[in-house]
Amino acid sequence: MHILTCENLTKTYLSGETAFHAVDHVNLAIQQGSFTAITGPSGSGKSTLLHMMGGLETPSEGKIIYQDMDLGKLNDNQLSVLRRRRFGFVFQHYNLVGELTGLENILLPVMLDSRKPDDEHISRLIEVLGIGNRVHHLPSALSGGQQQRVSIARALSNKPTVLFADEPTGNLDGQAGREVLGLLQALRRELNITLVLVTHDLAIAEQAERVIRLEDGRVAADSAMEGGIV
Ligand SMILES: Nc1ncnc2c1ncn2[C@@H]1O[C@H](COP(=O)(O)OP(=O)(O)OP(=O)(O)O)[C@@H](O)[C@H]1O
Ligand SMILES: [Mg+2]
Repeated sequence: MHILTCENLTKTYLSGETAFHAVDHVNLAIQQGSFTAITGPSGSGKSTLLHMMGGLETPSEGKIIYQDMDLGKLNDNQLSVLRRRRFGFVFQHYNLVGELTGLENILLPVMLDSRKPDDEHISRLIEVLGIGNRVHHLPSALSGGQQQRVSIARALSNKPTVLFADEPTGNLDGQAGREVLGLLQALRRELNITLVLVTHDLAIAEQAERVIRLEDGRVAADSAMEGGIV
């Protein structure tokens, strides 16, 4: 079953008089529960594609269907409820709220939804991510790698159906990166999370069931289209 489908998905920016497609008529269907890696050179449109798939940026053209919902037909409120309850985001630049401690950042998606946090789940995330002694600090007192781990815990605190992760291990060393990926894989299986992960790291992309390569906003290669798994 496809959980997410992009049809002719396009993001156009104007640079002076000329239109430029950061994402250029992309068609993709993502299987529920799968692990897809998106790779490609800097500027190829990976983050823009991920943000549109997760309903954070509005497409210039085309649409995104989540289950049987067309995201373009939802109003702002419906879209934010969907994002809070069903999606998790790990941003390339973390996007932690500077005035809140690590723990408050982690709990934010659940709090915004007026729900009670699953304490056991949250404690486990904090423990596995190894940030137990840092979560009461503000992000400014955390290293890049620690902020990245806090942002991963935040993305998973609501047990999302889809986790969109933009270079989630970009600021971790090899060993820590593998550990975090191991955690994402374990949670994916346990909670049946669909993982869409942007990475430059081929060792990480290799672990995905499907690898999509973007170039100039277009799908240049897709292992699912080659009938095999990369
Ligand atoms: N708000 C914006 N206005 C104009 N151009 C933009 C905007 N956001 C992104 N772009 C351009 O769109 C293209 C794709 O950007 P995007 O951030 O999606 O690339 P990326 O593949 O994630 O790159 P990186 O690997 O460096 O993170 C780039 O050329 C970028 O400069
Ligand atoms: Mg990017």
